[in-house]
Formats: sequence, structure tokens, C-alpha cells
Amino acid sequence: MSEAKTYLVTNALPYANGPIHLGHMLEHIQSDIWVRFQRAVGNKVFYVCGDDCHGTPVMIKAHQLGITPEQMIEQTSKSHYEDLQGFLVHYDNYYRTHSKENEEISSEMYKKALEKGFIITKKISQLYDPEKQMFLPDRFVKGTCPRCGAKDQYGDNCEVCGATYEPTELKDAYSTVSGAKPELRESLHYFFDLPKAHDFLHSFIKDSGVIQKEMSNKLEEWFKAGLKPWDISRDAPYFGFKIPGTEDKFFYVWMDAPIGYLASLKNYCDTHAIDFAPFIDDKSDIEMCHFIGKDILYFHSLFWPATLMAADMKLPSHIFVHGYVTVNGAKMSKSKGTFIKANTYLKFLKPESLRYYFASKLSSQVIDVDLSLDDFMAKVNSDIVGKVVNLASRTAGFISKRFDGKLAKQAWNEEILSKIAVTKKAVYEGYSSRNYGDAVRAVMELADEANRYIDKEAPWVIAKEEGQEDKLQRVCTDGLNLFRALITFLSPILPEVAAHAAEFLNDDLKFQDVEKPLYDHAINRFKPLYSRIEKSQIDAMIEASKEDLKKAQAQNNQAQKQEFEPLADEITIDDFAKVDLRIGTIVKAEEVKEARKLLKLEVDIGFEKRQVFAGLKQAYGDVAKLVGRKVVLVANLKPRQMKFGLSSGMVTAAGPGNDKVFLLGVDDGAQNGDRVH
Ligand code: MSP
Ligand code: ZN
Repeated sequence: MSEAKTYLVTNALPYANGPIHLGHMLEHIQSDIWVRFQRAVGNKVFYVCGDDCHGTPVMIKAHQLGITPEQMIEQTSKSHYEDLQGFLVHYDNYYRTHSKENEEISSEMYKKALEKGFIITKKISQLYDPEKQMFLPDRFVKGTCPRCGAKDQYGDNCEVCGATYEPTELKDAYSTVSGAKPELRESLHYFFDLPKAHDFLHSFIKDSGVIQKEMSNKLEEWFKAGLKPWDISRDAPYFGFKIPGTEDKFFYVWMDAPIGYLASLKNYCDTHAIDFAPFIDDKSDIEMCHFIGKDILYFHSLFWPATLMAADMKLPSHIFVHGYVTVNGAKMSKSKGTFIKANTYLKFLKPESLRYYFASKLSSQVIDVDLSLDDFMAKVNSDIVGKVVNLASRTAGFISKRFDGKLAKQAWNEEILSKIAVTKKAVYEGYSSRNYGDAVRAVMELADEANRYIDKEAPWVIAKEEGQEDKLQRVCTDGLNLFRALITFLSPILPEVAAHAAEFLNDDLKFQDVEKPLYDHAINRFKPLYSRIEKSQIDAMIEASKEDLKKAQAQNNQAQKQEFEPLADEITIDDFAKVDLRIGTIVKAEEVKEARKLLKLEVDIGFEKRQVFAGLKQAYGDVAKLVGRKVVLVANLKPRQMKFGLSSGMVTAAGPGNDKVFLLGVDDGAQNGDRVH
């Protein structure tokens, strides 16, 4: 065998604002199988993942749920981990990007890039939500498509006509966070100078074997189109790490996300007394392998290697890209019940059924994988149950009943056993090149041959014949040795079935031992290893997924309703007494023409009249109606010099702003100048 290798294997980090679904599972299953195979053939693997915690969507979702982002991460991370365990995906460490390790490594890498001149700054104009006081990512702006006029389209592209555009081109744009009309605002942004890394990236990708050919061709198009500086900063409020040397700029989520791979590993190394240094040393021969979906190619093949290069760190050895999961030939759909969450699946079906089905369809090509539910059921039932497990159940009984659980001292048919070596070669080739479908096909061909052999020899017939004991034992031993090879080959895909089979065969099921059959060896009693999938289980899973959708909608409505502003810090009665609130009457009200929101009011508070500017224009357009109204005025507020004059006090009102401002009413009897206690 060639010398053992050391790999760092990563799977893309799921976002912390949503559940793991079967689309994600394709990748986790793909990487887990690869890792199990590499370990089975003697290589050393560090296998890490974790939650991707930062960014606006996480911040907003947590806010809607009325919890802090940290609390939300705590919850989702736990359920993500449980889902992955449920699918027998065993990471050495499942960590998170919101961690001290990640902040440290991110800051270090940024400083290195800064020193080397890879960071530039530029002022940019961006849409801003004046109500929530935050810059809006494209996905949080909706409006009317400038091309086809379709309403409620996202800020970056139209789902109706497919047009792509800038959010500023939308008509009747509104913020999906508050409903307010976004304004254009300028802000200073930090950029990673990607064009400066062009030549490095080009040679890193081109013909280097780091990435599949079809993907490097795709990247070639991007190189041709020209690389642009990459905006790595976001303004407050943002849930992320503050950029060193700034007061209010944060790393864009995709800056620290891949660094999260290293943070997860660092955390593992630190808690297991392992030296982290070789993993980032560009001279070490550890191979860093990333499993990712085609949608995040740009980040992993351009941004990530560029930031690593700028920090003089080890580059990825392989970027393994896969396609998307579709269900029954279409994009996963919530309303059809085919947007299936990992934990919904696990309530009805075994993890290994999906592992097997995905494996049978996976190749090294970037093609979508269809989970056709009828085919899924048929394949699992026919292959795992009908071909593999059946082989053991047809032969094991004779060994335990007639031979006291002892296998024969020699084979009956050496030739059939010699096929194991042929299959082994195909299986090795298939797993190492991620053509799991080829490996599965080779295993099933052997299973078919083995079953044909048993059909032909018919141990149940031999068992009834006189003086055929030796043949019976040897034929059944052949059957079980073939079963042992099949299950060993499938062990990266079916780890739990393999563990039970190992117990039954009283053997370790080592890849390197498959060609040495077990003879004169005691086995244990056979117990059923797998059960068939029934159509009713699948139907129930689809129904439950539809229910999941309803629950999510109900929760969403609930969350929207409860979107209250958090309570301010507690104060004492003395604190309150500092605010001098007085009853007043609006005696004059006029529009400030040059201001979008302001009205100029004169308020009589008994002992004097005050000039006050108030943001009431959109809500109280008809100024005449305001005259004569009683209001509550903050009377001891420090006067403020505004562009249009001095504002002495503040009229109290409730509501989110713009056209939703509601003045407080005052009951009859209260006099101008009365203090509010
Ligand atoms: N958080 C980023 C990844 C950061 S990695 C430094 C992200 N998260 S994700 O949750 O949207 O997706 C995680 C992985 O799952 C990605 O590789 C993505 O391609 C994959 N998939 C998400 N939906 C998928 C399907 N329907 N089918 C197959 N893979 C899919 O992107
Ligand atoms: Zn359109």
C-alpha cells in the first residue's frame, strides 16, 4: 500500500438561521462517505464542520424571534448537530464561526492582507432603511421589476422575467425589514483587491487539478470577464466580527465563513493536544479538501485561496464540487412537501436508506441528484434488503443450526470468491474518485453473482439430502464470505448495518482482509439487519413536511406580531422626574416645504409658546386638523438648531415612523402647562 496521507476534510458550513434539509444532506453524506473510506484504507483524516453564524439574515431572524443571535446559534447549532448524528455523519468537531478562534484567525489574516497591500477602501452608495437605520443587503429590498413590471421582486433579480439589476433600479422599492422606502446613502467600505491576485488565482485554478475540469472552465469565464475588488466590510448594525482598526465596520459573513473551517480545526487541536501549525503551513503535505455545492464555487475557488495566499497560508488541495438535490425531478418545494428537513426524514425512515440512495447516484461530476421517491424505495428494497442482507439470511441459519455456528474449513467454489478482488479494485477506484455510483454498481454486480450462485446450489435443497453436510457447510460459508465482502465494501455508506454485520460475523470487516475469507471461524446468530421501506412511510414523511410548512408559517406570523422594540434599561422614579412632560395645545401648524417629514408647530404650554419641528408630515398631512389639538410635550429637552429654525421640545407620539405616527391624546380637563407625572 502507498504511504498513508493526512487530510483535512471540510463540508460547507450550514447557515445558522435555518434547519438542515435533504439538500444539505447530500454534501454531508458525500463527505462522510469519503472520510470513512479514507480511514478504512489507512489514511489519517481530520473532518470538521460547524455553523455559519454571521450576517444580516441571522441578525434579523433572531430579532424576529425575540432572542439574541447568540441564543439562536445555540439552538440551531444543537439541532444541526443532532440531525447530522442522526444521519451517521460524524465530524471530529462541529463548531461555529462565532467563536474566539475564528475571530483570532480572521483578524490575523486580515492584518496580513493589509500589510501586503491587498486591502483597499472605497466609498460606495447603498440602499439604507431609514426606519431600522441599517444598510440593506439586496435580498432585503423588494420592488417592481424595472423590466417586466412584476411586483414584489428581490433587489438583485426578477423571478418572473429573469432580469438581473441593481437594487436601485427597482421601482417602488421597499425594505422587507420595515416596509420603509429605502434611501441611498454613502459609506466607506473595505475591499480585498482581487485583481491584484489575478495571476496567482489563474495559475492556482488552471490545470492544477485542484478543481473539476468543468468547474475550472466555468472559472475561466470569470477570469475573462475580469475580477473585481471584493467588498469585505459591512456597516453596523451587523452580526459579525469588528474589522481590526475600525470602530463600526464588520467583516462580511463570507470573509470569516471559510476561516471557520480552520477555527473548527483549531478548537479541535487545542482540546486534543494536536499541533495546529502544520495545517496552515504551506510547506506541509497535509491535503486540505473542501466539499461544496456549485452555488458557492466563487467563494471557495477565488476569494478563499486569495485570502489564504495573502496570509501566506496553506492553500486548498482539492475543491470537490457537487450539484443540487431535486426531489421527484423538481426543485425541493415547500408546498409539495418535498422540502424535507433532515429531522422530518429521520422520523419516518432510516438514515442509511438515504445514504445508500445518494451514494448510488453520486459521481465526480457536477450534476444534480434527483431523489425520486419511488425509485428510492425500490432501490433500497431491492439492493440492501433483497440482495445484500438476503444473502446472509439465506445461508446463516444452516451454519448456526447445523454446524454450531462454525464456518467450513474451505470454500466450495474458489472461483466465485476470486471475484471479490475484482470488485475491490472497482470499489477503491470508485470511492477515491468520488464516483460512488460506480462503487455501488460494482458491489451490486457481485451481490447478483453471489445470489445466483446460492440459487444454483440451493442450500435448502442440499440440507434435505443425505451425506451432503460438507457441501452444505462450504456453500453457506461461501455465501457468508461473499456477504462479508459486500458489507465491508458498503461500510462507508452503511456504517450501522456494517457494525451489526461485524457483530454477527464476529469479524472487524477490514478492507485489507476481504480477499482472505473466514474459514473455521465461529459466527454469531443472525438477526435481521434491515427492513423494507413501505410506501406509507414515504407518504407520511411528505405529509409531515407539509405540516412543517404550516408550522413555520404560523411561527412566522407570531414572530411578526411580536416584533416589539426591546425594553430600555430600568430607571428609578428620580430618573423619570428628570423628564419634564407638559400638556400643550398646537396653535399653529405648517409644512416645511424643503423637508420630507417635518412640520413646523407652535405649541402653547400655558406659560409660553414653543416652536417645535416634528416628523409628522406623512402621518398628518392635513395640517389644519392639527390646530387646536392637545399634545404632550417634552418641555425640558435641550433646544436643537435645525436647518429650518430652532426646535424647543418634542411632541410625543407612538408608531414606527413615516405615515405610521400616532400622537398621544389628552383627556378633557387637563390644562396647558400641566405637568405629566
Ligand atoms: N454558509 C454557506 C457556506 C459557508 S462555507 C464556508 C452556505 N450555507 S448553506 O446552508 O446555504 O449551504 C451549505 C451547503 O449545502 C452548500 O455547499 C450548498 O451548496 C449545499 N446545499 C444547499 N442546498 C442544497 C441542495 N438543494 N442540494 C445540494 N446541496 C445544497 O452556503
Ligand atoms: Zn421582471
